[in-house]
Amino acid sequence: MDLHGKIVLVTGASSGIGYVTARAFARRGSTVIGVARREANLQALMEECRRDAPASEYRAGDLSVRSFAEGVVNEIVERHGRIDILVNNAAISKHKHILHTSAEEAEFVMRVNFLSCVWTTFAAIPHMQKQGRGSIVNVSSFAGRVVPPREAIYAASKAAMNAFTEGLWSDLKGTGIHAGLVIPGPIDTEIWLKEDEPPAFDGKKFPPEVVTDAIFEVIQKKKYEITAPKRNIALVTARFLRYVLPAVLRAGVARMEPNPPELLERARQRAVRGLKLGHSDEEAPAE
Ligand SMILES: NC(=O)c1ccc[n+]([C@@H]2O[C@H](COP(=O)([O-])OP(=O)(O)OC[C@H]3O[C@@H](n4cnc5c(N)ncnc54)[C@H](OP(=O)(O)O)[C@@H]3O)[C@@H](O)[C@H]2O)c1
Repeated sequence: MDLHGKIVLVTGASSGIGYVTARAFARRGSTVIGVARREANLQALMEECRRDAPASEYRAGDLSVRSFAEGVVNEIVERHGRIDILVNNAAISKHKHILHTSAEEAEFVMRVNFLSCVWTTFAAIPHMQKQGRGSIVNVSSFAGRVVPPREAIYAASKAAMNAFTEGLWSDLKGTGIHAGLVIPGPIDTEIWLKEDEPPAFDGKKFPPEVVTDAIFEVIQKKKYEITAPKRNIALVTARFLRYVLPAVLRAGVARMEPNPPELLERARQRAVRGLKLGHSDEEAPAE
């Protein structure tokens, strides 16, 4: 597919994978609309994109708000006449023990990581149906396949995205709209600095460009799914064990970050005091 002149929406474009991907689309001559909350970062991105794709622009806002997520898609079509490619990449990390996580945090993760993707996709599909073609690429995570300790909610948001994409892939057959999934392994971006609790993982992290390349490949070859990096021994082994020896994998993964007895005891004491999950030791008991 010649990407020149395509109208491309990239969510989560203010840093990391989204920033690099938006810039790469612009370098191929696509008009990029970058979406995220941090306006200064989006302005810097646009300075780069407009050198190659002068009509590129950004929308700053919170994708956890449905009206914003839907509105961005509709506004793009009003301004540019179409939407060819939607890359759902925005997400927040949540490396946090489940006994420390509140229901409110869990809901917010699902809104940003999963529901925003549903909302932009639902808004984009009718436009793509009218066009008779379009591409939707969802950036998931290996955590959605092999769930690390302390990532129940983050992994659930990505597993939901995986199932959603698989369903889209079938249901959109014959419409000209292709839906695909990119599953990054550990990638060297600022997301690692935003964790609530320090992650145990200290292995190799790959450059965001490996994910951008996978996004292009999914679109251009109409693939369903690519793990990035490809053919990485640790990821291939984990995926193999996931299907063949899931109990062995679960036991191995749990050992990466075991539960210290004092963590469990403090959490138990909070429960005895009537505190809800995610509420700190200092807080008053729930009503
Ligand atoms: N890095 C990794 O190791 C890794 C591994 C697996 C999967 N992934 C996935 O790759 C994608 C990109 O992550 P990254 O590593 O590039 O991290 P990142 O640099 O932290 O990028 C996350 C992006 O999402 C945006 N975002 C977060 N909350 C938002 C909200 N409420 N509304 C609008 N935008 C929001 C952020 O922008 P603002 O803060 O400006 O809003 C930022 O642009 C994510 O889906 C992530 O789950 C990453």
